[in-house]
Amino acid sequence: MSSWSVVSDGESQTLELGWRLGQLLQQSALVLLQGDLGAGKTVFARGVARGLGVDPQIPITSPTFTLMNHYHGRLDLYHFDLYRLSDPDELIELGFDDYAYGLGVTLIEWPEKLANPETPGLWVDLKRIDDEHREIVFFQKGETHQELISALQKKCHFPLDNNLSKAEGM
Ligand SMILES: Nc1ncnc2c1ncn2[C@@H]1O[C@H](COP(=O)(O)OP(=O)(O)O)[C@@H](O)[C@H]1O
Ligand SMILES: [Mg+2]
Repeated sequence: MSSWSVVSDGESQTLELGWRLGQLLQQSALVLLQGDLGAGKTVFARGVARGLGVDPQIPITSPTFTLMNHYHGRLDLYHFDLYRLSDPDELIELGFDDYAYGLGVTLIEWPEKLANPETPGLWVDLKRIDDEHREIVFFQKGETHQELISALQKKCHFPLDNNLSKAEGM
C-alpha cells in the first residue's frame, strides 16, 4: 500500500494540496477525509473543489446540517460531512451509494461514521501539530486510486508555492 505523509505549514498549503488533487482527478473518485474538528478537512475539500473547477465565487463550507453539498465542476462533486449522522441508514435514504460509486467525485468528512471502516478509496488523515501545522497522510484502502498518491506527490514540490494559490483565486 502506498502512502505519503507531508507537513502543511498553513491553510494555503492544505488548499494547494487539495487543489492539486482536484486537478489530477479525471474520473470518479472517493476521498475520505479523517481528522478532528479544525484539522483542515474542509480547507482541503475547498482546494479539491477549486481544482475541479468549481466557480471560485461559490463558497465551500462543511455541509454539517445538510449532510451533503453538490457542486458542479469539471466533474460533479458531492461533499459529505457525516459528523451529525446518527444512523448509517440515513445515508442509504440519501442515495449515498449512488454518489459514492457514481461518476462524480465524492469527498467525505467524518468517514468514521460509515458502516464500513474499510471503505475502498483515497484516505486522507489530517492531524493538528500546532496552530499552523498539520500532518497530512495520504493512503489507500482497497484496489482503487493506485496511481493517485504518487501522481500527487510528483505534483507537489515542497515547500509548496503559496503565491500560486493566490494567483489561482483560491
Ligand atoms: N496547515 C493548515 N491546514 C489547514 N487548516 C489550517 C492550517 N493551519 C491553520 N488552519 C486553520 O484550521 C482551520 C481548519 O478548519 P476546517 O477546515 O473547517 O476543519 P475541519 O473541516 O477539519 O473541521 C481553519 O480555521 C484554518 O484556517
Ligand atoms: Mg469540516
